[in-house]
Amino acid sequence: MTENRITTLFNIKYPLIQAGMIWCSGWELASAVSNAGGLGIIGSGSMYPDVLRLHIEKCKKATDQPFAVNLPMLYPSIEEHIATIIELKVPIVFTSAGNPKTWTSKLKEAGITVVHVVSSLKFALKSQDAGVDAVVVEGFEAGGHNGIDETTTLTLVPAVAEKIDIPVIAAGGIGSGKAMLATMILGADGVQVGSRFITSVESSAHINFKNRVVETGDGGTRLTLKELTPVRLIQNEFYQKVQAAYAEGADKEKLADILGRGRAKKGMFEGDMIEGELEVGQVASTIHEIKPAAEIVAEMMQEFNAAVEEIKRDKFNF
Ligand SMILES: Cc1cc2nc3c(=O)[nH]c(=O)nc-3n(C[C@H](O)[C@H](O)[C@H](O)COP(=O)(O)O)c2cc1C
Repeated sequence: MTENRITTLFNIKYPLIQAGMIWCSGWELASAVSNAGGLGIIGSGSMYPDVLRLHIEKCKKATDQPFAVNLPMLYPSIEEHIATIIELKVPIVFTSAGNPKTWTSKLKEAGITVVHVVSSLKFALKSQDAGVDAVVVEGFEAGGHNGIDETTTLTLVPAVAEKIDIPVIAAGGIGSGKAMLATMILGADGVQVGSRFITSVESSAHINFKNRVVETGDGGTRLTLKELTPVRLIQNEFYQKVQAAYAEGADKEKLADILGRGRAKKGMFEGDMIEGELEVGQVASTIHEIKPAAEIVAEMMQEFNAAVEEIKRDKFNF
């Protein structure tokens, strides 16, 4: 594959990025993806500062390729995380869930490449103004926390690509090389893949959660808790409890009370499939097995290249 704006920006082989995911993407996954030619990301949103330090140190030992840290700006000890990232010379940071103006200049002054995650054109433009190097545009299909507008990846990618100059990374619903190619034809320079990597061998997700993702079929997830932070979840018992509360007219406080603290950890990391918050995208319905991250990367790139060849032949020549 030739170089493009994303492979050049990150100095990687493939424009395929493994998403930073709380409780799922530690150093084992990030280094495996980076070693396979993509960009691996450590998800720092579920890590105490000393844990993040350990993961960065281990990642550096496990790969000589570039890797990144995902930094949700809601994180309470964000300044400590940033100090660690700068001290340990992490080359790339993906920020999310906050205003891109807050930390971009500090990170860039330290020589770090900064990418911000958005779910609307408005915030993509704000990110460009804030001086980030690229944006991830995440559609409604995506697993985890999401925007309130419910804009799908198919709509969001071209809408952003025609309006901004910096590279665009598509996210949400991408689990195959064909989906990767589709979003790149729509104007993306690369893709960020989350859900598909939950079921990698190296993901730190609990085996119960990995198996549950594999079992999740068409229509198995829903975006909910919009009054707090919209999040896409598997429709397990916890999800049903939230829906019952909605039916009884629960307000924001009541919903926050039901959610409580630590549910994502309980479900995704500790394996409680009943009471846990199980974050995954719609693409779960196309994930059928647990396999090494390097195989996922290789498979997606083979599929991508085969799809390009298919297009070049006469299949789409109307
Ligand atoms: C379990 C899980 C945890 C996530 N945690 C984060 C996070 O900590 N920070 C973030 O920016 N995005 C997070 N996301 C969103 C991903 O980074 C990514 O954009 C999304 O998964 C892409 O959509 P897909 O799941 O359809 O591939 C999470 C997604 C999942 C599934």
